Amino acid sequence: MLTRRRFLAASALSGAAILTKTSVFAEADRPEIPLPIPQLIDAKSNGNSVSLAIGRATHAYLKGRPVKSFGYSAPVLGPVIRLTRGETINVTIENKMSRPTTVHWHGLVIPAAVDGGPHNTIGSGGRWTASLHVDQPETTAWFHPHPHGETAEQVYSGLAGMLILEDGSGEGMGLPHRYGIDDLPLVLQDRFFGEDGAPIYQPGPMDVMAGYRGDTIIVNGAIEPVAHVPAGLVRLRLVNGANARFFDLQFSDGRTFHVIASDGGYLTAPVALRRLLIAPGERYELLVDFADGRETMLETGFDQNVPMMGMMSGGAAAAGGNVLKFQVDPAIAATVTALPKKLIEVPLLDRSKIAGRRQFLLNDMMMGGGMMGGRGFGSGGRGFGPVMAINGQPFDMERIDVTTKRGTVELWEIGSQTMAHPFHVHGTQFQILSLNGRAPPQHMQGWKDTVVVAREAQILVPLSQPGSRDHPFMFHCHILEHEDAGMMGQYVCT
Ligand code: C2O
Ligand code: CU
Ligand code: CU
Repeated sequence: MLTRRRFLAASALSGAAILTKTSVFAEADRPEIPLPIPQLIDAKSNGNSVSLAIGRATHAYLKGRPVKSFGYSAPVLGPVIRLTRGETINVTIENKMSRPTTVHWHGLVIPAAVDGGPHNTIGSGGRWTASLHVDQPETTAWFHPHPHGETAEQVYSGLAGMLILEDGSGEGMGLPHRYGIDDLPLVLQDRFFGEDGAPIYQPGPMDVMAGYRGDTIIVNGAIEPVAHVPAGLVRLRLVNGANARFFDLQFSDGRTFHVIASDGGYLTAPVALRRLLIAPGERYELLVDFADGRETMLETGFDQNVPMMGMMSGGAAAAGGNVLKFQVDPAIAATVTALPKKLIEVPLLDRSKIAGRRQFLLNDMMMGGGMMGGRGFGSGGRGFGPVMAINGQPFDMERIDVTTKRGTVELWEIGSQTMAHPFHVHGTQFQILSLNGRAPPQHMQGWKDTVVVAREAQILVPLSQPGSRDHPFMFHCHILEHEDAGMMGQYVCT
């Protein structure tokens, strides 16, 4: 049977331009479903120990069409784990899949030995325990697989979860804090569904080049769900958990919202926006005012980060669409109605203390690898595909690319070639000095662990956590196909 993606690829090869968005599903298959709210695990009240099992499960993305999926002790995705700053959380992960995996704590500033990168392999049937001592400002982070060469496929299969790290500051500022009511976790992703309702992951060489996009947006594993919210301020914790899609978010009525936090914590003050771009790996937290009682739709625009070549095969999948509908329910008490004027102090890293300066060029058009290149990507044995690299070197588990010193701050300059790449660094929260030679927009002036490099970016990277030869930290593009194809490097910190 010819899947639609294969059909599109075949059409592209024969020169037909297909840019219309169609769906294999009739509208009748998509009744409105309430926004799924993941189970909340409060680590502290659980004795600071959390156990998750990764296994095969069943999830119906489409009503009446259950399909196989993967989750962290959940049918798909995982619980939201609430961590308390200053505590040490003991996590136990059981891998019941037939493939090895790792669990990476994206956004936590913790030693590389426990951060769940590609060196923390949990074999099939294996178990991994790690002690996470977290001491960083309140923020929303997330966890996902990071196995060498297979991250994209495992995340796409359903594995991702949210972390909420708290130190009391949000509650102190009177921010919405009723989980699932006015404080909503939102994992944004996209999938390409087959007729049977199962997500299809079959990236061809062009999908690896462009990143793999699905034509259907999902939030917390559901297609275009509805959130029932109070007629007041509602906090949205956004995680872009998509493999490649940049979400270009705005409300259907054009309403203004306020960004209160970026990847690593609160901004100094809420930033008013009508439109927000969020790249894979990034988090933003918003306050949205529903006091007017009107229904509205969160929408995403066409993903412009598709290279010309990708337009032929993936253009249709880059189309925008509805993300999440909001309906105001007067029966839900609105407890927060006033926007705080100020949030927290974000101390500026001192430029005069820069201990080193490095440059990273993100290579998305490597010569030699190429479309039909003879070098496999990753070590997953998937055969042929394009090779991506940083400074001309595709990722190598055995090679340390950068050696840093604990307690220092470095200036990293990152450049890209044809596409924008969300560049992510493990083991730190950094600050953006400049984007394409200019100061970053206000909502990017707080702590970040992922920066969109459209042409060039300068970031100030504090290095506080230990990373060794055996357990180094990663830096990489968070378009997961690029990461798996080699756009990743390793640093130690001693
Ligand atoms: Cu979210 Cu190294 O990854
Ligand atoms: Cu990470
Ligand atoms: Cu990339």
